[in-house]
Amino acid sequence: MTKLRAYREQDFKKLLAVDLICFVPGIAYTEEELRHFLGRPTAIALVAENARTIAGFVIADRFRSRGAGQWMGHIITLDVLPEARRHGLGASLLTQAEEQLKAAGCDHVALEVAEDNTAAIAFYKKHGYTTLKRLPRYYLDSLDALLMSKRL
Ligand SMILES: CC(C)(COP(=O)(O)OP(=O)(O)OC[C@H]1O[C@@H](n2cnc3c(N)ncnc32)[C@H](O)[C@@H]1OP(=O)(O)O)[C@@H](O)C(=O)NCCC(=O)NCCS
Repeated sequence: MTKLRAYREQDFKKLLAVDLICFVPGIAYTEEELRHFLGRPTAIALVAENARTIAGFVIADRFRSRGAGQWMGHIITLDVLPEARRHGLGASLLTQAEEQLKAAGCDHVALEVAEDNTAAIAFYKKHGYTTLKRLPRYYLDSLDALLMSKRL
């Protein structure tokens, strides 16, 4: 049975490995990038664990939006191993991260997704995200991203 729990420092290498499976080189995070996002004091990091294997994880964070000082949530990454997909794990991770962002004072959440990542775009649309704008050459200095967001 897969259960969700908070990230622990000893999970780090497994998260790095999962991210390398989920994203192509150049889009997958480097060790330094992953440490940076996990180390931020406002980071929310949850893992989906199945018999001591990490099948997926989510990292989210919050930032002050321009002007009003309102917190804006951000999904930094959401990863589910290929063999564990289409069983609701992504939904559980995303929903819990959104709940924690909302509890921390965010009224919106945003994320970037590569425009060719049709699975993730379909997934986020299913969860109520809409496209705000296209971010030209956001990935690998060549691939556009969609900036998507949702009201919490
Ligand atoms: C996007 C991702 C997190 C979804 O995780 P998941 O555990 O499969 O998601 P769930 O099982 O909760 O939801 C599946 C739903 O998402 C949508 N979806 C997922 N993959 C899809 C695909 N290949 N084609 C169409 N729709 C898809 C469908 O609505 C699907 O529902 P269905 O199975 O009833 O058709 C997973 O595919 C993944 O890790 N991809 C690689 C990393 C990535 O792209 N992360 C997101 C960008 S930050």
